[in-house]
Amino acid sequence: MSTATLSIAAPYIIRQDYEAYTEEQHAVWAELVARALPELEMHAAREYLEGFEIIGLKKDRLPNLSAISARLAPRTGWSSTPVSGFLPAPAFFEMLAARNFQTTTWLRSRESLEYTPEPDIFHDVFGHVPMHSHKVFADFLEHYGRVCASIADATILEKLGRLFWYTVEFGVIVERGEFKVYGSGLISSHGECMNVIEGGCEIHPFDLDEVLATKVKVDELHKLLFAVSSFDEVYEAMHEAERRALSGSL
Ligand SMILES: [Fe+2]
Repeated sequence: MSTATLSIAAPYIIRQDYEAYTEEQHAVWAELVARALPELEMHAAREYLEGFEIIGLKKDRLPNLSAISARLAPRTGWSSTPVSGFLPAPAFFEMLAARNFQTTTWLRSRESLEYTPEPDIFHDVFGHVPMHSHKVFADFLEHYGRVCASIADATILEKLGRLFWYTVEFGVIVERGEFKVYGSGLISSHGECMNVIEGGCEIHPFDLDEVLATKVKVDELHKLLFAVSSFDEVYEAMHEAERRALSGSL
């Protein structure tokens, strides 16, 4: 979707200077993908793996965001929009509501392949964007942005942030009786992904009350995550959360 309607987020939108990436950076991308894909082919949600093909991600070259957005546009209207860095919440919500996903363009260095404190293009594109090709997930994400953009109360926003965290960032789904990962923080982190797959983390069936009551911790591997049985469940949870937010019962 076009960025023309964005006002709060406008100052953060940049152009991705694709030609400026070095061969070393493309090689780092290739290594990150080569390390992650074999385990994801076994443990990622089917919808994520399909999305990877749909958006035309390349295994050996950094993603060109306009090419990816051109593949997404006819399917879900989402765009992977380059931004200068971390966005304040109102700008982030405004972008989601307009089906623009804030996407960083920098890539971690070879020295920090495992971990970056701030999201980079590997987390943002490899981790997030394939799911934006899934119609129900795409609708949910826009709805999330619209609802959050209309709320000023910090306590309510924190609770809604938990819904985002335990789905978009660290979501698990049950497929054919097995836990599969779809959250970007699981997809883009070997340690977090294996923590789920090897049973280091309790997985409860997704329950909105429990999700909203579970504080986000960022300084340790997760001890508790939540598994949906389909993405319809995420979509419906967002509608229920909106209903509660509007009635003051969230
Ligand atoms: Fe993320």
